[in-house]
Amino acid sequence: MMEHSRTNCKLVLFKFLHGFILLCMSTCLESTTLCNLTLLGNESDRLALLDFKKRITVDPFNAMSSWNHSIHFCSWVGVSCHRSTKRVLMLNLKSKKLVGSIPSSIGNLTYLTGINLSDNNFHGEIPPEMGRLQSLQYLNLSHNSFHGKIPTNLSQCTQLRLLDLKANRIMGSIPNQLSSLLNLKYLWLYGNNLTGTIPPWIGNFSLLSGLHLGRNNFQGSIPNELGHITGLEEFLVHLNDLSVA
Ligand SMILES: *[C@@H]1O[C@H](CO)[C@@H](O)[C@H](O)[C@H]1NC(C)=O
Ligand SMILES: *[C@@H]1O[C@H](CO)[C@@H](O)[C@H](O)[C@H]1NC(C)=O
Ligand SMILES: *[C@@H]1O[C@H](CO)[C@@H](O)[C@H](O)[C@H]1NC(C)=O
Ligand SMILES: *[C@@H]1O[C@H](CO)[C@@H](O)[C@H](O)[C@H]1NC(C)=O
Ligand SMILES: *[C@@H]1O[C@H](CO)[C@@H](O)[C@H](O)[C@H]1NC(C)=O
Ligand SMILES: *[C@@H]1O[C@H](CO)[C@@H](O)[C@H](O)[C@H]1NC(C)=O
Ligand SMILES: *[C@@H]1O[C@H](CO)[C@@H](O)[C@H](O)[C@H]1NC(C)=O
Ligand SMILES: *[C@@H]1O[C@H](CO)[C@@H](O)[C@H](O)[C@H]1NC(C)=O
Ligand SMILES: *[C@@H]1O[C@H](CO)[C@@H](O)[C@H](O)[C@H]1NC(C)=O
Repeated sequence: MMEHSRTNCKLVLFKFLHGFILLCMSTCLESTTLCNLTLLGNESDRLALLDFKKRITVDPFNAMSSWNHSIHFCSWVGVSCHRSTKRVLMLNLKSKKLVGSIPSSIGNLTYLTGINLSDNNFHGEIPPEMGRLQSLQYLNLSHNSFHGKIPTNLSQCTQLRLLDLKANRIMGSIPNQLSSLLNLKYLWLYGNNLTGTIPPWIGNFSLLSGLHLGRNNFQGSIPNELGHITGLEEFLVHLNDLSVA
């Protein structure tokens, strides 16, 4: 009986939504401005993806050949979209032996929740425009050749749960601005050329489970504050210039 009424309710809701969408579509047909507004979203994702493709210089597996005009970008290899809005949610091109760089227009893919370019040969800097990706939860750029510094603007990606920059050529210190990334569960910076001290504010990352800082040029001592992280399971700091306080 309960099940039945719930099904009825869903049916009514579905009919209501269906009518609503039809209404929106007819409004759209009448008003070009509204129409163009709705087109803007998906077109800007398409342009940003094409810009990304342009920066790929070597693609031995032809991973990017599906990124062509005959199919919708939501069907391109490595691209996942939201089912109804057709906005790009995930970019996953791991282990494709790609050589290239990330254009600043990656910041136009504002609905992205995950980027996985791990295990390729991307070079250049991590674009600061990534800070515009405020829904980003997963950023895995490990095992590439990124250089330059960790952009301070990544501090705006406060939904980040995973930040993996392991095995690149990133230098400079960990920017203090990253203290805003309170949702991090995995912070992997192992195998770069990072300098400076291990920031004590990492102790504020109460969800942190994996902290890999090994094989860098960190100095100073391990901050006591890291002892506050009760769920820390993996803590790697070997192969640095750390001293015992
Ligand atoms: C809507 O877009 C079309 C082309 O896509 C353009 O010709 C037209 O001027 C636009 N209309 C408005 C109101 O922006
Ligand atoms: C954008 O959305 C419109 C309306 O849903 C659709 O007709 C069009 O194919 C989409 N364009 C792209 C490039 O996704
Ligand atoms: C990205 O967005 C900016 C600002 O809206 C725009 O000027 C630029 O053309 C976009 N880039 C691409 C490749 O779509
Ligand atoms: C576009 O990509 C599809 C899917 O990979 C492929 O079958 C098709 O041959 C491609 N078209 C062109 C013109 O490259
Ligand atoms: C690759 O990235 C996606 C998000 O874009 C993530 O869901 C997936 O788990 C990643 N795969 C691996 C093996 O890291
Ligand atoms: C990043 O991706 C690689 C796969 O290429 C995977 O092995 C690694 O576990 C991922 N990082 C994290 C923190 O899960
Ligand atoms: C970095 O963030 C600052 C502060 O929000 C902003 O003004 C600046 O435009 C951002 N830089 C880029 C390249 O997005
Ligand atoms: C690491 O950075 C130092 C200077 O900060 C530089 O002298 C050294 O060559 C760098 N090492 C690598 C492997 O890039
Ligand atoms: C870290 O947390 C402590 C309180 O536990 C707070 O006093 C401090 O300001 C926080 N630091 C940062 C950089 O957020």
